[in-house]
Amino acid sequence: MSVELREISKRFGEVQALAAVSLSVAAGELFTLLGPSGCGKTTLLRTVAGFHRQDAGVVSIGGREVDEVPPHRRDVGLVFQSYALFPHLSVAENVAFGLEERRVARAEIGPRVERALAAVRLEDLGERRPDQLSGGQRQRVGIARALVIEPAVLLMDEPLSNLDAKLRVETRSEIRALQQAAGRTTLYVTHDQEEALAISDRLAVFEAGRVQQVGAPNEVYRRPANAFVAGFVGRMNFLPAARAPELAGAAHQLGLRPEDLSLHPADGQLSAPKLAARVRARVFLGPVLQVRLDCGEGLELEVEVHRPEPSAWREGEEVQVELAPERAHRFAADGSRVEPPE
Ligand SMILES: Nc1ncnc2c1ncn2[C@@H]1O[C@H](COP(=O)(O)OP(=O)(O)OP(=O)(O)O)[C@@H](O)[C@H]1O
Ligand SMILES: [Mg+2]
Repeated sequence: MSVELREISKRFGEVQALAAVSLSVAAGELFTLLGPSGCGKTTLLRTVAGFHRQDAGVVSIGGREVDEVPPHRRDVGLVFQSYALFPHLSVAENVAFGLEERRVARAEIGPRVERALAAVRLEDLGERRPDQLSGGQRQRVGIARALVIEPAVLLMDEPLSNLDAKLRVETRSEIRALQQAAGRTTLYVTHDQEEALAISDRLAVFEAGRVQQVGAPNEVYRRPANAFVAGFVGRMNFLPAARAPELAGAAHQLGLRPEDLSLHPADGQLSAPKLAARVRARVFLGPVLQVRLDCGEGLELEVEVHRPEPSAWREGEEVQVELAPERAHRFAADGSRVEPPE
């Protein structure tokens, strides 16, 4: 089922948590709300769930306006950031709880709980109590609890935030696979840009209650709409236009990603636009070498060298960094993206 948000605003006292947010999520889509802490992600999710009423704007689910519909009749399932399981109930009883609350027939509950536990690969652990599970398993119970009610729309608020880095990556692939198999419309909240790129069909980048950009992961990464998005999604070096006027045109600021810069020896002949720099620090990470450059006048750049020579680019070495004009992002003084002249 599609989810349509039209001009949603919500204020808490002095804080404008949401400012005229409009988004259209297609049926079956995994759509992510991405942004820094406090930008309004949870507020928006709770508005869709019906836990609080927006000051202005309209929420529609499956083409029906739901503003007067209470949470339990909106056909949404919510996975909370803290999984909030009942400690004294078994895993299976935790999962069954939402069905009992909705007065689903007894005979139906058992099979549905089994299906939901199988979906998150916990079919053998139904009898355990939550304190007998790992963090990742508990998180999966939280997901099963939302899946079991077979909601038209699944809402997930930072569902991986309590997991360690490795489990986070594994569990996010599982969530994606489950979502794809069921074709369930999912609104997914995270402040982790890598997670958002990895899991989403499309994402919306938020700052301070406002949508900054909506697009597929590759669109947002390759063509950030403004300097905020450019700096928040992936890493970006920002250069004042005066440091590379041949690239900047009328722009105020340039953005170049670490993988789009390349290093050359200080004495090499380079016709491309370049800056003189000194290597400040190098971090060898196996497939890539991260090199931090001091370009003078307070400008530092980060360069990523792929498949590095072991001895390449020593600390203190004088180098030239090549600036590829076709890879540069250009921003106006107000941060908005500027396209280069043809
Ligand atoms: N019940 C409330 N009363 C007052 N202010 C609130 C309330 N709920 C949220 N806020 C404020 O609204 C803003 C948005 O909060 P929200 O929880 O939506 O952020 P978030 O993007 O989910 O952040 P995080 O990534 O830290 O979870 C914040 O400034 C927050 O302090
Ligand atoms: Mg939140």
